[in-house]
Parts: sequence; structure tokens; C-alpha cells
Amino acid sequence: MRYKIKGVEIRSENAAKPSSQKSSAVNDYIGTLSNAPLILDFGCGKLRYSDTLVSVASKVTFVDSDIQLNREQVIRGERTTVKQYVKSNYSGCKTIPYENLEKHRSKYDVITCTNVLSAIPCKKTISEVMAHISSLLKKDGFATFVNQHRSSYFKKYESGERMLHGYLYSGSKGSSYYGILDKAAIERLLKKHGYEIIKTWIVGESTFTEARPNS
Ligand SMILES: C[S@@+](CC[C@H](N)C(=O)[O-])C[C@H]1O[C@@H](n2cnc3c(N)ncnc32)[C@H](O)[C@@H]1O
Repeated sequence: MRYKIKGVEIRSENAAKPSSQKSSAVNDYIGTLSNAPLILDFGCGKLRYSDTLVSVASKVTFVDSDIQLNREQVIRGERTTVKQYVKSNYSGCKTIPYENLEKHRSKYDVITCTNVLSAIPCKKTISEVMAHISSLLKKDGFATFVNQHRSSYFKKYESGERMLHGYLYSGSKGSSYYGILDKAAIERLLKKHGYEIIKTWIVGESTFTEARPNS
């Protein structure tokens, strides 16, 4: 997704890391999801966790921006697109661009949203994402948000301009944004958007929060 903020363009699709840079904490957590849930991976990036998601789920729907799903790039070692990779490798699974999500009527047991809110430099879009996730969950479903609250990687960004949950940084390769969402920030955001917190825990540099819409 591309965002125009303060006169600069932020290409958030470039924030996605490849499957060779998995967080074992996130991967292990996904591996614990039981009862073959129907999963939607919100902001799937370069399919960093797709194999694990597919191994535990009955089916997975992968959502990201139209540009992230359809640009040619290296996905899990193959030069292809996210859309094509899912079609060729994960039977029964699909991709949906964020831009078309409004029309999607399925409901999910689990929605994963890993390191996505930190890549969105726009308050209005964060609110829209929270509303989408809420309306895409089954009655007894839940969403898991994973955010980094600390990283040596932030150091570079901290020289940038303070903005929203983090920093706007302009370097030789253009501008980027990095939000830092700790336990207090994510819980505040979830409550503001009508979610009830099920639990929050911290592993290393990541904060995990399971939440569901207030009934
Ligand atoms: C840091 S990457 C994380 C990708 C993946 N979840 C992972 O952990 O590897 C952030 C992702 O959020 C996506 N993104 C940004 N805004 C979005 C939006 N409004 N809807 C869906 N995805 C979005 C970007 O395109 C990017 O792929």
C-alpha cells in the first residue's frame, strides 16, 4: 500500500521481510493454533509465515495491497507474485487485495495481523483495518496482533521525525515509516476500536495480543 503523508510517498510494501527472516516466536505461535481454523492473514507481505499458516488451517485467505499481491518479486525463493504463488502452492487458499475487501463476505475463526499496524502511517487507514478485521471475524473468532515494541533496527528511524506511533524517516532510498506499538499502545488502539483484549504477552522484541470485538 502506498501512503502520501506530509508530501512524501511511503511504499509500505517494501517493509515486508522474506520467509528466510521468520521470527521463531511468531512462527511457533502460529503452530499452536488448533482445530483447523479458517484463517485470514491480514497484511501477508511476502508470505513469511504462509507454510505454517497453511499447515494448521483448514484454509487461508491472504490479504495485502493490490501492489503487494501482484508485483513480481522473490517469494519463498521463487520469482513470481504473491497471488500466483498462493494459487500454485496452496490448494483452496486465495489472495484478496485490501482494495476489494469491502465486498468479501466470508467470516474467519482467526485473523493474524503480524507487523502490519507498524507499517501504516495513517490514522484513518488503521481505523479502517481495525473495522475490517472486526467485521471479518466469526462470532467466536479472534484476531492476533503482533507488533514490535523494541528493535535495534529502530535506532536508524529514531533520527527521523516523530509521527503517529513511530517515526517518519527519509533516507537515500526514499521515505519510510516505522511504528512502535508496545503493550499499552496496542491495547489502547484495540479498546478504542471496540475490541476486548483476551490476552497480551511479550516474547523477545514482540508483543502478542489476542482480541475479539466486544459483543
Ligand atoms: C512489515 S510488512 C509485514 C508483512 C507480514 N505480515 C510479515 O510479518 O512478514 C507490512 C505489510 O503490511 C502491508 N499493508 C500496509 N498497509 C496495508 C493495508 N491497508 N491493508 C493490508 N496490508 C497493508 C504492506 O503491504 C506490507 O506487506
